[in-house]
Amino acid sequence: MDPIVVVDNLRKWFPIKKLFFTKGWVRAVDGVSFIIREGETFGLVGESGCGKSTLGRLIVRLLEPTSGTVYFEGKDVFRLRGRELKEFRRKVQIVFQDPYSSLNPRMMVFDIVAEAIKATQQEIPEDMEDYVASILEKVGLSREHLYRYPHEFSGGQRQRIAIARVLAVRPKFIVLDEPTSSLDVSVQAQILNMLKDLQKEHNFTYLFISHDLAVVKYMSHRIAVMYLGKIVEIAPSDEIFEAPLHPYTQVLLSSIPIPDPKIARSRMKLRPKGEPPSPINPPPGCRFHPRCPQACSLCAREEPPLIEIERDHYVACWLYARK
Ligand SMILES: Nc1ncnc2c1ncn2[C@@H]1O[C@H](COP(=O)(O)OP(=O)(O)O)[C@@H](O)[C@H]1O
Ligand SMILES: [Mg+2]
Repeated sequence: MDPIVVVDNLRKWFPIKKLFFTKGWVRAVDGVSFIIREGETFGLVGESGCGKSTLGRLIVRLLEPTSGTVYFEGKDVFRLRGRELKEFRRKVQIVFQDPYSSLNPRMMVFDIVAEAIKATQQEIPEDMEDYVASILEKVGLSREHLYRYPHEFSGGQRQRIAIARVLAVRPKFIVLDEPTSSLDVSVQAQILNMLKDLQKEHNFTYLFISHDLAVVKYMSHRIAVMYLGKIVEIAPSDEIFEAPLHPYTQVLLSSIPIPDPKIARSRMKLRPKGEPPSPINPPPGCRFHPRCPQACSLCAREEPPLIEIERDHYVACWLYARK
C-alpha cells in the first residue's frame, strides 16, 4: 500500500505572548514523522493536551507549521496554491469533536451541505435537493431532515450532519478528531460503525484521533501513541495491545478496565507517577522519563530516536535502543 500522507519532522510551537513580547513557547507538536497508507485507518492516541488536535489541524492545513512538512499524494501541502490548493481542500476533510459548534446554527441542513459542495467548486449536481437527500440517507438521516436547523437535532444526529457535509464533497482522506467523544456510548458505537461502513464503501483513508485507546483500537489498522508533542510508538493495532513496548503505551493500556483481577492488579503497578508535565518546558531527554517506572540516567539526558524494532513496529525508548 502506498503512503497517501507523509508527515516529516513536523513542529508547531505556539508563542506565549505578554503585551508585545514572546515569553516562551508551547511545543504542541515537536518533531513528528510518520506515514499514513491509502485506505487504512491510522489511529492517534494520547492524553488530553499532548498535541493530537494540533497535529490533525496541521495535516489538513488549518494551521501553518513552525517547521517540517506534510506531503499529500506526494505534494508538499504547505506549498499548494491555486487550483491544486482547491483540490486539496476538497480531497482532505476534518470532522471535529463538538457537533454543537461545528454547524452554523442559522443554516438549514440543506444549505450546510450544499454550501460545502459549492465551496469546493466541483460540478454542481443537476438536482441539488436530490443529491443532498441521497447523502443524508448515507448517514442515516432522510429527506425530511433537509429543511431543519441544527438545534432540532440530537448530538449524534448533528455529528451525522457534519459527516454528510464531508461526504458530499467526495474526499479521499478524512481526519476524525474525537468524532464521538462527546456522545453517549450507544450513539458512539452507531457512529463508529457507520464510519467503518463508509470507509469500506468509498475506500477512505482516516486519521482517527482519540484519547480513548479502546475506541482507537476498534477503529484503527495501525496506532501511533503520542506523548507531549512526540510520537513514542507506532505499531499495528493488535501489536500495540498484545506487545506494547514503550512504558507509556503500557501505562495507557493499564487504564483500560480488564475483568481478570490478577492482570488488573499487575497493571495497577504501571500507573504513571505524577501529572503530565507541561508542553511549555518539556523535560529534557525522553519526555516521559520523570513519570517512567523504568527510566535510567540516559533517559534524562538524551532524547531517544523513533526506530523500527520489528517490521512496522516503531518505538522511541532507550530500553530498546541502547547506544
Ligand atoms: N492556538 C493555540 N495557541 C496556544 N496554545 C495552543 C493552541 N492550540 C493548542 N494549544 C496548546 O497546545 C497543546 C496541545 O493542544 P491540543 O493539540 O489541543 O491537544 P489534544 O488535542 O491532544 O488535547 C496544549 O497545551 C494546548 O493548550
Ligand atoms: Mg484535541
